[in-house]
Amino acid sequence: MHKLSEESKDNQDQTQDFMPINGTDYLELYVSNSKQAAYFYQTAMGFSSLAYSGLETGNRETESYVVVQDKIRLVLTSPLRSNSEIGKHIDKHGDGVKVTALWVDDATKAYNEAMKRGADSYMEPREESDDHGKVVRSGIHTYGEVVHIFVERKEYNGIFLPGYQAWDSSVESKSVGLKFVDHMVGNVALGRMNHWVKFYEEVMGFKQIMSFDDKDISTEFTALMSKVMSNGNGRIKFPINEPAPGKKKSQVDEYLEFYEGEGVQHIAVATDDIIATVKDLKSRGIDFLEVPDTYYDVLNERVGPIDEDIEKLRALKILVDRDDEGYLLQIFTKTVQSRPTMFFEIIQRKGAKSFGKGNFKALFEALEREQELRGTL
Ligand code: FE2
Repeated sequence: MHKLSEESKDNQDQTQDFMPINGTDYLELYVSNSKQAAYFYQTAMGFSSLAYSGLETGNRETESYVVVQDKIRLVLTSPLRSNSEIGKHIDKHGDGVKVTALWVDDATKAYNEAMKRGADSYMEPREESDDHGKVVRSGIHTYGEVVHIFVERKEYNGIFLPGYQAWDSSVESKSVGLKFVDHMVGNVALGRMNHWVKFYEEVMGFKQIMSFDDKDISTEFTALMSKVMSNGNGRIKFPINEPAPGKKKSQVDEYLEFYEGEGVQHIAVATDDIIATVKDLKSRGIDFLEVPDTYYDVLNERVGPIDEDIEKLRALKILVDRDDEGYLLQIFTKTVQSRPTMFFEIIQRKGAKSFGKGNFKALFEALEREQELRGTL
């Protein structure tokens, strides 16, 4: 349990920048076979090899492959022995996101600010160095077993982090145009959304920028509630979902059941050309959720004029939504590991800062068809 300090309430007005974050540094996934996962991310998702840690680098406990695409870095980690913390994590959750690392200028200050506001410590500030300089990292717990690690790397010019060596795989990987992490969504248990909203507000100085309830996000059968938390400069956005009561089991319930707890539901990655990106991903075997063709019959009426050819969007089943500031194009992969848990969203923003509320109904119906096939609806 995370206790939220009284003191932080007095600080509400100055909270804006007690924790400046430059962006997402990396995401670390605990996976059952990091070598094969790295191959998937290179061949199917367009990432390139970057760095490696394992037996050959003197690491006797784990093997990590780091893959990169523009500003997105994924660390894929597996244990080399039984009875490890990572092994237990994988046994319980299957493959999933363990670490959301945040790039900061001062990892000690970020940690101290969070701790004095009631964070639960994962890792005290720790200096790590090699021939390329030093990195300071610290970490705090968030929902489920997910942690945030603060990374300070201003005195480091190595390939990734101390302990890693450059890795240049023989896989010929060509980018599919993914640029950066747009947002990352957490699924939390029924009744826990507001707790985590408060955590991000009080402990990390985030602000709630949007909320959805079951009136926005529901179908005949399932519903969810969501609040979107953003840091001061808007580079970090964490929507938090909780299930809402419906006639049948919602997608968040299904996640919580199969992940056996709270965790990261999807990672949304940005592209400048969603048509090219999705075409490329599909040709490499990535499966996406598909909305019915009728979605496109009323698209023009719903979102007004857009730059893209609707027939191309229809062919690829890319979704469109509009808000006061512009529009966005988005599409969701099917889940990317054995358990029906985590998936990716590909998003292209054309002014819109929202999350595709207008697509929720069509999407949920597509999801429910998938759930039905799995016997979980
Ligand atoms: Fe999303």
